[in-house]
Amino acid sequence: MRVLVVGGGGREHALVWKISQSPKVKKIYCAPGNAGTEALAENVDIAADQVEALADFAERESVDLCVVGPEQALALGIVDRFRERGLRAFGPSAQAARLEGSKVFCKNLMRDNGVPTADYKVFDDPAAARAYLQSKDRIIVKADGLAAGKGAYVCQTREEALLAVEEIMEKKIYGSAGDQVVIEEFLEGREVSFLAFADGKSLIPMEPAQDHKAAYDGDKGPNTGGMGAYSPAPLLTPELQGRVMAEIMYPTVEAMAREGRPYRGVLYAGLMIDSAGPKVLEFNARFGDPETQPLMMRMKSDLIPILDACIDGTLKDQRIQWSDESAVCVVMAAEGYPGKYARGKEISGLQEAGEQSGFVVFHAGTSPSEGRVLTNGGRVLGATALGKDLPAAIDRAYEAVGKIKWDGLHFRKDIGRRPA
Ligand code: AMP
Ligand code: GLY
Repeated sequence: MRVLVVGGGGREHALVWKISQSPKVKKIYCAPGNAGTEALAENVDIAADQVEALADFAERESVDLCVVGPEQALALGIVDRFRERGLRAFGPSAQAARLEGSKVFCKNLMRDNGVPTADYKVFDDPAAARAYLQSKDRIIVKADGLAAGKGAYVCQTREEALLAVEEIMEKKIYGSAGDQVVIEEFLEGREVSFLAFADGKSLIPMEPAQDHKAAYDGDKGPNTGGMGAYSPAPLLTPELQGRVMAEIMYPTVEAMAREGRPYRGVLYAGLMIDSAGPKVLEFNARFGDPETQPLMMRMKSDLIPILDACIDGTLKDQRIQWSDESAVCVVMAAEGYPGKYARGKEISGLQEAGEQSGFVVFHAGTSPSEGRVLTNGGRVLGATALGKDLPAAIDRAYEAVGKIKWDGLHFRKDIGRRPA
């Protein structure tokens, strides 16, 4: 089998790594990939949002399965386009990916179907949004559309909320993604990520994972794409997992099917857990990054039959085996991320770090250059380790992190250490 993985981050390296272990797979391409995927796959110089060029490539190279990482490609309809051309692609259609691509669509679907989430109002007029905020202080303002993970403003004061409305709706810093905003109630609790495979009707949950969104130790600083992740996440007890499936995942998949947007792919719920139970902060229409890194380390089953079953609607016949071990991924980032950062710094110590057993350095923003590896993004590497329990995995990951260096390296020192 010939597989094309679309994307070039840590998530895609983890997918390539896992897929490379499948006895069914003879050849892997990764577009555009990074210095890490290059060791296991043939990198292809096509950006993840070049849907037509990717389909041309897949046709020419007789690719049997395309696995899509990033949300932009899904929102652009990559899965639809592949299907129209008689190619197989794993992920939701553009219509189904609206669940991530439009907060307004997602919130309305949840409200109409009784899926627990924060109370909210939608505005398309900044003056009306401002008037509504006069009687509020702590509140969340979200751009409707995709904003590279930056469109949600957690506002402690009315002034911050007014500024969010101005940036999103008037300055249009996310372009047309800010034509509408969702203003929603502030939820207290603990966050956890819950990902499941979906085939339009059935679901198979993955093990719970937890990411660390804030840039600095102690959950301080600006939100990022994720500075680290671990699995399992003890916060999500088996009882709570059952509730998440019954109250959130199945009602959402059933509602999407009724709407004529059957959901196939990974359904990722960002959840807030409080004493009353789980509520949805957002849905993503894809594998999480960095959650995928520890999840792929723990998945014992072959990934390929599961991806195939999602496409074919036969997921109910599949089972997924997970390792009892814990896994943790420490993201190693460029100084300044999530703000401005430099690229092109030479990374040292990769080989030495990679020699440890039960450990993989997943690359994210890296590029190969004449035998060297250079930084080429904000999140650069994901040092990912397995261990008999979480503390053992953490020790192993940080031991390897200590061997890797570049000018301006920054990482959190408390990944996985948040109490459950
Ligand atoms: P989102 O992009 O919707 O997941 O939001 C990004 C982050 O903002 C989440 O991971 C939470 O930390 C925070 N957040 C979003 N919505 C809420 C909410 N209603 N209450 C509290 N925090 C929230
Ligand atoms: N880890 C957050 C995300 O993938 O969106």
